[in-house]
Amino acid sequence: MAAGPATCRLALVGFGTVGQGVTEILAQRRERYAREFGLDMRVVAVSDLNRGSIYDPAGFEPQALLDNAGDLERLGAPHKGWDALRTIRECNADAVLEMAYTDLETGEPGLSHARAALSNGKHIVMSSKGAVALHFPELLALANENGVSIGVEGTVMSGTPTLALATEMLKGAGVTRIEGILNGTTNYILTRMGEGLAYGDALAEAQQKGYAEADPTGDVEGIDAAGKVAILANLVMDRPLALSDVRRQGISRLTPADIEEARAAGQVWKLIGYVDGASARVEPRRIPASHPLAAISGATNAVTFTTDYLGEVTLIGPGAGKLETGYAMIGDLLKIARQGGFAAASRSNATGPQGATTT
Ligand code: HSE
Repeated sequence: MAAGPATCRLALVGFGTVGQGVTEILAQRRERYAREFGLDMRVVAVSDLNRGSIYDPAGFEPQALLDNAGDLERLGAPHKGWDALRTIRECNADAVLEMAYTDLETGEPGLSHARAALSNGKHIVMSSKGAVALHFPELLALANENGVSIGVEGTVMSGTPTLALATEMLKGAGVTRIEGILNGTTNYILTRMGEGLAYGDALAEAQQKGYAEADPTGDVEGIDAAGKVAILANLVMDRPLALSDVRRQGISRLTPADIEEARAAGQVWKLIGYVDGASARVEPRRIPASHPLAAISGATNAVTFTTDYLGEVTLIGPGAGKLETGYAMIGDLLKIARQGGFAAASRSNATGPQGATTT
């Protein structure tokens, strides 16, 4: 007799754009994932600073969560009002999805959330970048110690499988340089300014479309892209870079005149992240309109890996967005499931030799 799907109980920490994106995907495809991928994903807890906190060991209907997104505590639930750490420690989830706001200087609150989940034997899948940019080796060691996995695909280029491609398939080819457009918000702003929109209006659009961070300063000053450079350097090149090692300049000082001057010269401005064996930086650069990166518009991102054996490999895909980042979380959960992470019986010895997924 064929085995039924493994059950994966989920705690959602943060119910903003990404949390609602994950839930929307589950509302549409939960049954299909159970049928086709053998993984039945059930949200048992949601904890959000502004929208409230609920926990029901039996789980919630995804659509009911979405219908009550503004005030989750309107829903009937045996437990309400738990903070994120209590939710992570005490609920019956097998995996925590960490989608709170990100602080790239301290890594908090994601760092405390990740430590709590891993040390309590729960897998963690993160879209917030701070803790990953600053403390990934520590978190990976903690995951291995506890026989659980850490998924981080959503921290770079949303659900575009950048880290999976790079860590699983490209790393062995010897990655010597990584360069690309790593922030959706700024690329969207530069694209719209190129079409004649004012900076403030373009930023407002990017916020309205769910691309920008809660505090968009992180986007426009290049901090978010620098965090992604640090994550790529750490995970793909084994360069233990901190955010402060990435030289950084954002786009906030670019004027409409700068954009127009570039356009008249057949060029465009792009915010480029770069790392090789010696340096790491984020900076606005004027590139010829014929350059492959010039055609990357809106919230799309692109990254080129230069390798010893394959030469250059370029990946283009969404860099931000609700369903796009929501899917990164689902993709990591499906990967952990493939590694046996949600097998009912002995989860702890079934996650492969590393005991962790770095996607
Ligand atoms: N604010 C980020 C961006 C979200 O615009 O790229 C995805 O990391």
